[in-house]
Amino acid sequence: MTESQARGAGGSGPTGDQPAERIDDGRAYGRSRGSWDPGLVETSAGTPAGELLRRYWHPVALSSEATGLPRRVRLLGEDLILFRDGGGRVGLVEPRCCHRGTTLYYGRVEDDGIRCPYHGWLFAVDGVCLDQPCEPDRGRNRASYRQPWYPVQEYNGVIFAYMGPADRQPVFPRYDIFEDLRDDEEIVILDHFAFGGPSEAPCNWFQTHENAMDPYHVFILHNAISGHQFDPRLEIWPRIDWQRHPWGVTASQDRDLPDGNVLHRVTEIRVPTIRAIPTPTLTVLGKTNNMSWAVPIDDYRTKVLAMVRKPKDRPPQALPVYAEGKSWFELDEEGHQRYPGDYETQVGQGPITLHSTERLASSDRGVSMVRHQFLEQVRIVASGGDPVGVSFDPGEPPVSLRAGNYVVAPGDESLATEYSFVEQ
Ligand code: FES
Ligand SMILES: [Fe+2]
Repeated sequence: MTESQARGAGGSGPTGDQPAERIDDGRAYGRSRGSWDPGLVETSAGTPAGELLRRYWHPVALSSEATGLPRRVRLLGEDLILFRDGGGRVGLVEPRCCHRGTTLYYGRVEDDGIRCPYHGWLFAVDGVCLDQPCEPDRGRNRASYRQPWYPVQEYNGVIFAYMGPADRQPVFPRYDIFEDLRDDEEIVILDHFAFGGPSEAPCNWFQTHENAMDPYHVFILHNAISGHQFDPRLEIWPRIDWQRHPWGVTASQDRDLPDGNVLHRVTEIRVPTIRAIPTPTLTVLGKTNNMSWAVPIDDYRTKVLAMVRKPKDRPPQALPVYAEGKSWFELDEEGHQRYPGDYETQVGQGPITLHSTERLASSDRGVSMVRHQFLEQVRIVASGGDPVGVSFDPGEPPVSLRAGNYVVAPGDESLATEYSFVEQ
């Protein structure tokens, strides 16, 4: 065999006026660099996806983080200052003072608002200027100056912000799983819920979000590759399907249990950033007792915040255990390579995944559904409409979630309406 035959067809180059024949044997040289779909991943004001996101309320901090000391926060690519004035009101304002631009991070929080350290202008939580100590009569026109601000709502220990147009501000949504708590129950916030450890990841929010409609990875990543991270019943190969709803997408996974019952597990995504993922350790059966938000800090950073309802005498969901009984934080670099989890695989897709180079397959149908629906909503907002899931009716009832770990008899379609903790 000659050397050129050994290399494959085509010889070593052009002969005479014959153009070189391009060999495509899949090697990396000359490949497309790829690009992402901006309609899915961009979060800044003025981008189509950023404008859709700005029609909803988003978690921006824990209630406990709003204090008399100004705090830097970042949401949808905007740097903001969070504080709680002496009257208990939460303020969320642009850092740059509307007078001459120093930052309110060094401001002094007072009874009625935050006072700029440079010339002392005082701003209420809605940005209205209350005092201009260097001006005649402390600012005859002060009420006409306004520090750029955003409205906030506190809900179960979390501060939510609305960063969109004033005339399209929806009522703050509530969720049925957090209504009507009994005396022996409480709601806690978990920030280690996602990624198997850290609450924040250096990647775009959408690749974290769509993961909730990827039930196949539970079987591979969290079982075959990284060991038995969840309840052994999740290792039974399920029948998987996805359902499109006006408000989001659900994934159903049915597993035939040894006792003849069926584990009907439903995960849920709601436009734009909500995911309801019933606990994979199966310590909670019935309707889900938790939901979470994949919060876009900016295009390159995501924070996941989970809200959990539970009996007061039960511990909140523990950190996932990786190999050798270690948590994500206890693994060294080799440990992360040998036992990767959600953090490694989602961050591993890159700061923003490159949609154009993906090879979506049949098992990615749920991911495709989430993307299509999000892009539809982006177009609705871009053409002047209101997106799904917003309401302007103060009497709007709480949103009813579908997600859960439902153990049912075969053919039984009735689903529990409450959660129950079970002994393991
Ligand atoms: S820069 Fe803030 S009061 Fe002057
Ligand atoms: Fe996962």
